[in-house]
Amino acid sequence: MDTQVGIIGGGPSGLLLSQLLHLRGIQTVVLERRSRDYVLGRIRAGVLEQGFQALMRRAEVAQRMDRDGQVHGGVNIAYQEDRLRIDLEGLTGGKTVMVYGQTEVTRDLYAARDALGGIVIHEAEDVTPHDLESDQPYLTFTKDGVAERLDCDFVIGCDGYHGVSRQVIPAEVLKTFERVYPFGWLGVLSQTPPVNEELIYARHDTGFALCSLRGPELSRYYVQCRADENPDDWSDADFWQRLKSTIPAEVAARLVTGPAIEKSVAPLRSFVAEPMRWGRLFLAGDAAHIVPPTGAKGLNLAASDIHYLSEALIAWYGEGDERGLETYSARALKRIWKAERFSWWMTQLLHKFPENEGFGDRIQRAEFDYLMSSRAAQTVLAENYVGLPY
Ligand code: APR
Ligand code: PHB
Repeated sequence: MDTQVGIIGGGPSGLLLSQLLHLRGIQTVVLERRSRDYVLGRIRAGVLEQGFQALMRRAEVAQRMDRDGQVHGGVNIAYQEDRLRIDLEGLTGGKTVMVYGQTEVTRDLYAARDALGGIVIHEAEDVTPHDLESDQPYLTFTKDGVAERLDCDFVIGCDGYHGVSRQVIPAEVLKTFERVYPFGWLGVLSQTPPVNEELIYARHDTGFALCSLRGPELSRYYVQCRADENPDDWSDADFWQRLKSTIPAEVAARLVTGPAIEKSVAPLRSFVAEPMRWGRLFLAGDAAHIVPPTGAKGLNLAASDIHYLSEALIAWYGEGDERGLETYSARALKRIWKAERFSWWMTQLLHKFPENEGFGDRIQRAEFDYLMSSRAAQTVLAENYVGLPY
């Protein structure tokens, strides 16, 4: 089998790239380790920057997003009983974010790939890249017990944090940077009306909580927990009680609770791998970087990688112009590190750090008080939350 661009991973990064390239006449094959149902069963964040929305429109997959996505012009931060609304729209000259679940984004991308006859091979096992330093790299994999080979011009690693592609970069070339936080998020999806029409990020003596939503009757909530916590150890009642004691009382009073449809624990980590290119291999999305979910930058950051990379590949195939490919890693990393900084900062501001008792807690409180009193500080938050330019 051969193609022009071989893509490892059929998450949002891989699917978006294959769609954008296909529309410009560039052939792709996506190799995904899991089944489609498994990929669509993963529940992740749901806040889309305008840059991401624009990319979805350019990829001709924005119809449902534009119909069902909710535009949010503000976001709320609570500290104990104090509440601050960040006027995203007013502070950024009219920019907003859209609330639309990543699962729905992935579903729309699959539908678009199907409609164009895009090739996505699911349950591709043992995907292995070869000859990445040559002009003729190839991938081997096993499908239904049969060994297969895919020849291509480029290999794109969109295979997430646990994928193979980053691991084939020699240790003397690859540099990684990591911070693991001493807590996780316990998330619950429930068929209940959201407690607030805009998101509320809350910090309390009990830790962190987030009130988010997926639709008028579908809510997504999180509370801070231990990173190694088993979600089954939390009954629904335990979860709701913790949430209520972490958000301001007047919000808790309005909370409608119900059975959890889904309950899961996500550890929090910051991670960056440099460089994002090795020979004919290019990394994009979670394969190269992870942000803690505070700030909802994960998917949006994957999208800016895909923007730079798709433009670079289109210029290479169209005009033989190599500059975009040469500069991809450096350009993408510039934006990635800014989003890493913001996500780290939001995490730092809003969580209870076990080692922080005393001085650290007072500094956090002072940071929040400063945010309450300073339009400049709010503007910094707003500008980052709606997304820095590509
Ligand atoms: N071979 C083939 N596919 C693989 C392999 C492998 N060895 N390893 C992983 N994959 C697949 C996974 O099954 C997954 O479907 O790669 C895909 C990677 O998808 P994501 O983890 O969703 O990563 P990405 O597409 O970069 O999307 C970034 O997802 O994790 C969130 O916060 C993140 O929202 C961001 C977005
Ligand atoms: C979510 O809705 O799942 C969500 C929203 C904002 C975040 C993280 C997760 O920062």
